Amino acid sequence: MSGDPKRDQSNRLDALFVSEPDRLSRLSLEVAGVYFDWSKTHLDAAIVTAGIARAEAAGLPAARDALFAGEVVNLSERRAATHLAERGAGSPEDIDLATARRQRTRALVDAIEADVFGPVTAVLHIGIGGSVLGPALLVDALGRKRAGPIVRFLSNIDGAAFDDAVAALDPATTLIVAVSKTFTTAETLANLEAALGWLRSAGVADPHGRVIAVTAAPDAALDFGIDESRILVFGEGVGGRYSLWSAVGVSAALALGWSAYEELLEGAAEMDRHFRFAEPARNMPLLAAIADRFYVEERACQTRALFAYDERLRLLMPYLQQLEMESNGKGARSDGSALAGPSAPVTWGGTGTDAQHAVFQLLHQGTVPVPVEFVAVAEGDNAQDPEHHRLLLHNAFAQGAALMAGRPSEDAQRSYPGDRPSATVLLDRLDPRSLGALLAFYEHRTFANAILIGVNPFDQFGVELGKDIARELAQGDGQADLDPSTRALIERAAV
Ligand code: F6P
Repeated sequence: MSGDPKRDQSNRLDALFVSEPDRLSRLSLEVAGVYFDWSKTHLDAAIVTAGIARAEAAGLPAARDALFAGEVVNLSERRAATHLAERGAGSPEDIDLATARRQRTRALVDAIEADVFGPVTAVLHIGIGGSVLGPALLVDALGRKRAGPIVRFLSNIDGAAFDDAVAALDPATTLIVAVSKTFTTAETLANLEAALGWLRSAGVADPHGRVIAVTAAPDAALDFGIDESRILVFGEGVGGRYSLWSAVGVSAALALGWSAYEELLEGAAEMDRHFRFAEPARNMPLLAAIADRFYVEERACQTRALFAYDERLRLLMPYLQQLEMESNGKGARSDGSALAGPSAPVTWGGTGTDAQHAVFQLLHQGTVPVPVEFVAVAEGDNAQDPEHHRLLLHNAFAQGAALMAGRPSEDAQRSYPGDRPSATVLLDRLDPRSLGALLAFYEHRTFANAILIGVNPFDQFGVELGKDIARELAQGDGQADLDPSTRALIERAAV
């Protein structure tokens, strides 16, 4: 990526700032209190122009229109992707349905707050993947100062995760929110059974009566014994990793308050309008996707790293891992043909400043190229001296500057080659509106990437094979078909 003498020096980042004096204003913009700066990437005028032409040739405008109109865009599963209806875009029928379902969710939140379930001190949210990552991020990011019920999240089938999740919770005043789009996911159902057992053994009279189910398969929840009055439904067209806007977010609404939840949706809708209507050269999700494809395809970057310089956003990275890797980590195009080039890169990262003292060595001097993204918040919100936040932000900005500028030295081991790209996202403050806009930005960037790559971002068949084998093993079948290594592991663990 850098330090390659054969590479055209005119596309070095420092040279670009000289040859394109307007690049900061062209490659930065603000939406809903979120400032995006892509000027420290190698996007030059030619790459942007070519990327826009490629997006048009790949059918991005029509695909985006179809997405926003609620038409079938998930071709392999023959359905629309209706998460946008939760924020007011889509077909009139989808929007009406989403609105009616949100009113039901609100009524349930109001009932819980009015002590219809008795005093509720805690909510145990059970779900996995898209049924937990979004709500957990929302509560961690925005819920630190609110005096609502404690919300704990339980996803892993590992019993240790269950022990941790219920530690110090009072079963008599805990509500269970069981979230599963399919209501068949093994981890979620096992944890739900365990939670019912936990309530039962604590003497709770009607454990099933303490469960709220959130699902696109209400019949399965009914069969499980959950009363219809406590089943919140969301649409089949709402993919798990796009679902926090639906009733899946009920735990977050309980933790943050209903008005915060509405503001989150409004912030996302502002970003929706930006992606839908902004001209291509000023369209941030599209510009970011063009940069993403440039680094993957032209600079052979197999990963991208994201560092949240804010503890409140420490769960952003795992949320994005699912969004980006489950959506675009595919080997076949949406027409069924094999993908000729690379699909999505690996998304990884951590929080600053911790990561600086652990992995940044490789980013500054390693030979494996990694485009970096910093996410920070201008306004801090903690009980400590504001100096902490000033230092935190100085560190974030210093890293981007250092990656780009580098510092030559006669001593190769002490030399920083520089010309290493970074993008920065700076929120004015972390509130529901800005967080909604930020998450919608990542959704649309993922969509734009999918169109550029040619894959369907709304299916995830790649997760099924491992589940099938685990299911067979749990049923005591399938061992004979396994390879010797796996058979030996099963024998050794005696499972
Ligand atoms: O296995 C992957 C996956 O299907 C994700 O796409 C989804 O978010 C998660 O599992 C949970 O699925 P469900 O909501 O149906 O329990």
